[in-house]
Amino acid sequence: MKSFYITTAIDYANGSPHLGHAYEKVLTDVIARFRRAQGDSVHFLTGLDEHGQKVQQSAAKRDISPQAFVDSVAVEFQALCEKLNISNDDYIRTTEVRHKQVVRDIQQSLFDKGEIYKGEYHGFYSARQEQFLQEKDRNEDGSWPEIFGEVSEIAEENYYFKLSQYQDWLIEFLQENPDFIFPKYRQKQVLEFLKEPLNDLCISRPKSRLEWGIPIPFDEDYVTYVWFDALINYLTASDFMEGDTGKWPADYHVIGKDILLPAHSIYWPIMLKACGIPLPKHLLVHGFWTTSGNKMSKSTGNTVNALDLADQFGVDSFRYFVTREMKVGQDSDFSEEQFLNRYNGELAKNLGNLVSRIQNMVTRYSDGIIPAAQVNEAADIEIQALWSHTAVKVVELGEAFQFHKMLEEIFQFLSGLNRYTELREPWKLAKSEEPGAKDLLLTSLAVISEGLRLASVVLGPVMPDISARILGLLGSEPVIEFAGNLDWDFRLEGKSVGEKTILFPRPEK
Ligand code: ME8
Ligand code: MG
Repeated sequence: MKSFYITTAIDYANGSPHLGHAYEKVLTDVIARFRRAQGDSVHFLTGLDEHGQKVQQSAAKRDISPQAFVDSVAVEFQALCEKLNISNDDYIRTTEVRHKQVVRDIQQSLFDKGEIYKGEYHGFYSARQEQFLQEKDRNEDGSWPEIFGEVSEIAEENYYFKLSQYQDWLIEFLQENPDFIFPKYRQKQVLEFLKEPLNDLCISRPKSRLEWGIPIPFDEDYVTYVWFDALINYLTASDFMEGDTGKWPADYHVIGKDILLPAHSIYWPIMLKACGIPLPKHLLVHGFWTTSGNKMSKSTGNTVNALDLADQFGVDSFRYFVTREMKVGQDSDFSEEQFLNRYNGELAKNLGNLVSRIQNMVTRYSDGIIPAAQVNEAADIEIQALWSHTAVKVVELGEAFQFHKMLEEIFQFLSGLNRYTELREPWKLAKSEEPGAKDLLLTSLAVISEGLRLASVVLGPVMPDISARILGLLGSEPVIEFAGNLDWDFRLEGKSVGEKTILFPRPEK
């Protein structure tokens, strides 16, 4: 059976991880865990993009070799994955032998087929963007935009990939596969871009100018242009070139909006097409985190230390926040205030308090054993009906990448469970002498426990640790698969509740 193969972009190794990187990993991890919950066999890849001018410069500045430099950066990025509890199956680094080999094989085969030719380029070059410039890139006053940094005039021979001859094919492909890019409006942007003629793609850099790259197999005086190297990582890690068809084509490449055009939507499909290799099934394009409307990036040095919040409030709180806050595809502003609102209001109050309450009530009123339900009255029926609705919505919204709404549904269910608790007031029932009070009390404990069990199962993809902890507290093992675990069936009867735990402690100061 082919696995569900999902990838993130591979991060540039020329700086430290930031919120954008963390978000993309969490989003992809939520999808991977959601698909595992749905029974898919998932293969999840992430990694590091280690070649190029900027890496060479960063290493030189520190007076170390580029390899030593990227080795240290890889440690940082891998630590981020560990910290965020990312469930990737593989981590690819573009300096690995397995990758260099595939890049060289692809280049050689395209060269042999006549898809790559040598040509002369004469014009302007931006070292900062590692990009050749055209007249249309200039400002109106003739100067070059800031983002290009220092621009120099050069004349050099290079290797070109015949991108332009695939333009019509690509347009047709996108028209016939309207679901190739999610969200759909991004596909329209690509088609719009394709209204202008494509240029062939320069895929080499002379070694005299850039050493830190994969040597071109048919001309050792040149190294490979970073994008032509980086995109291939997805294929390398699938082992498709070694004859393994269990992963490729990728089901989703998860990327940010800045690298859709032209890299993932133009270069990548055409590179694969020219090689006769199947295309990935989908690109999933997420938006950008901003801070007060500013784009965060390594070049402007403007990064919120959002990642510190994960240390302070727990990794799952961070995972919850970014998943709840951002609608996949759109931009979001990161604010600590909003983080605290959700932490205090949703996590600590709606979820954490209810968990403490049930632990406390079962301990006091039922000797620490989750009881059987004794009656089934209007309030019990209503909360079960709310769960049935929630379970359907969770699957539907998760499959559509509407994770912010999926969490909203789960927390509406938790609000319902809190209302049920307030309505029943088990603490009053415990003191009541009325006939039937005891049955209502035991039923309430059973219903609240069952509701929390089910909510924990569906929170698993977003908050795997919290999910396992709540289930543990309710005397259960962690749950991965949804199948067989989403039915309201009071299976906790007779289980012992665990020790009192505060899942979402109040911040220190
Ligand atoms: O682009 N908000 O690497 P990268 C959300 N090496 N996402 C963001 C973001 C932000 N503020 N800033 C960056 C590269 N990203 C290439 C990719 S793939 C074959 C090669 C996202 O480190 C960005 O959109 O600049 C990209 O998907 C990922 O982080 C890595 O960005
Ligand atoms: Mg970038």
